[in-house]
Amino acid sequence: MLEIVFAEAHLPRSGALALLVGEGERPSGLFQSVDEATGGAVGRALAAGEFKGSKNQICTILAPGAGLSRVVVVGLGTAPDALAAEAAGGTAITALGRESEAALAAPALTPSLLAAAAQGAVSRSYRFDRYRTREKPEDKPRLARLAVLAEDPAGAEAAFAPMRAVMDGAFLTRDLVSEPANVLTPAVLAERCEALRGLGVEVEVMGPEELARRGFGALLGVAQGSANPPRVVTMRWSGGGGGQPLAFIGKGVTFDTGGISIKPAAGMEDMKWDMAGAGAVVGLMAALAKRRARAEVVGMVGLVENMPSASAQRPGDVVKTLSGQTVEVINTDAEGRLVLADLMWHCQESFNPRLMVDLATLTGAIIIGLGHEHGGLFSNDDELAERLAAAGAAVGEKLWRMPLGDAYDRQLRSDIADMKNVGGRPGGAITAAQFLQRFVKDRPWAHLDIAGMAWASKDAPSVPKGATGYGVRLLDHFVAAHFES
Ligand code: BES
Ligand code: MN
Ligand code: ZN
Repeated sequence: MLEIVFAEAHLPRSGALALLVGEGERPSGLFQSVDEATGGAVGRALAAGEFKGSKNQICTILAPGAGLSRVVVVGLGTAPDALAAEAAGGTAITALGRESEAALAAPALTPSLLAAAAQGAVSRSYRFDRYRTREKPEDKPRLARLAVLAEDPAGAEAAFAPMRAVMDGAFLTRDLVSEPANVLTPAVLAERCEALRGLGVEVEVMGPEELARRGFGALLGVAQGSANPPRVVTMRWSGGGGGQPLAFIGKGVTFDTGGISIKPAAGMEDMKWDMAGAGAVVGLMAALAKRRARAEVVGMVGLVENMPSASAQRPGDVVKTLSGQTVEVINTDAEGRLVLADLMWHCQESFNPRLMVDLATLTGAIIIGLGHEHGGLFSNDDELAERLAAAGAAVGEKLWRMPLGDAYDRQLRSDIADMKNVGGRPGGAITAAQFLQRFVKDRPWAHLDIAGMAWASKDAPSVPKGATGYGVRLLDHFVAAHFES
């Protein structure tokens, strides 16, 4: 991870300098000093480039003098907020290119907005390069450290500390989601969860025998076609001094072939990230522990691989869930809801949480509805829904609320069991949520369908393409805003 060091706002004598500048901002501080030191080169370049300081606008000045290798000026737009600062920080880090020594300054930003810019720089610099063995040194990023120049370095550093913890969590999620499914089996993902013990998280792992003994019939039905046995992992962070915990539950299908209702070959490789809900829960628990959140939180993930084989479940099979309700499995590719049904029930029986939020790459239908701009939010509780949507808006991981209702629920009626696992094409993301709701006891619950958000095919200013880590910052913010005294 890119190292951030906060330092006094003196003009560097070497290396590169990124300057974040608001629209119409009058040169002050380092903005002014660098222009003077370069004999007005920066000001002339900005004028020649018609630089206005609009959001993420870039002006690069190479070898401007004063010993500097380059100056990049990045626009913050008008009245920048944390999201604008974060985006500009991310844009700056790419504009710095292959510099090996760099500093960043934003004379007009408050310490906390400057910290947000640093966070954007860190986030955008994420890379998953474990499996690149032949990368030439000149193709690797060279910047290991970014000096952030501040009027109040201590204040900016204090604001940055929890952000760094949350970025660590999001990076863990991105790593897990990026791993291929031959490496990240349910057992291996469970081991990665166990590593959180080092942060003070209590971790318990259940394997197939215990799950069978307890009656996780729906989850085991999904797992039965795979040579890689399932795991259910419970992670507990007790920073709040007791009381009913918040519960976060993640779908962890380490690979989803569809099972006997097999998926088409094109794009199937994407289904390695069908564990992104679980990945977000693991990253969230790491983030909360690292910043020592004053909250009681349980994270639970159901880890299975959905494969076709001689032992796989068939369309038409009837399974008995942990709750006792039976399900006719019409389509083995609607497996996530089967996993979550047992997890949610187990979570409520074991922890009696005050509220429960599940995250899942649950349906292709939510991508048709919302694209890659919003995650789908379903909830039985308006206050919970509003708080989650507000948290998402605050951190740039947006949510859009979708409806629930009896008419959708009726689409799940089965001729032979208590319900079917699919409700047909109309409203496919909603009937999936409706299925989950049948496993909610009386309490606030929300379901986040993150199928369109877990993976990005394009770079965004502060999130590189690939695994996004969506959900970690959102839920961390949700916890911080409402459940820590
Ligand atoms: N994991 C998929 C959903 C998915 C699709 C996530 C595309 C990310 C990108 C899920 O298990 C699934 O296969 N859902 C089916 C449900 C259908 C059979 C009712 C779907 O969406 O097609
Ligand atoms: Mn599926
Ligand atoms: Zn799936």
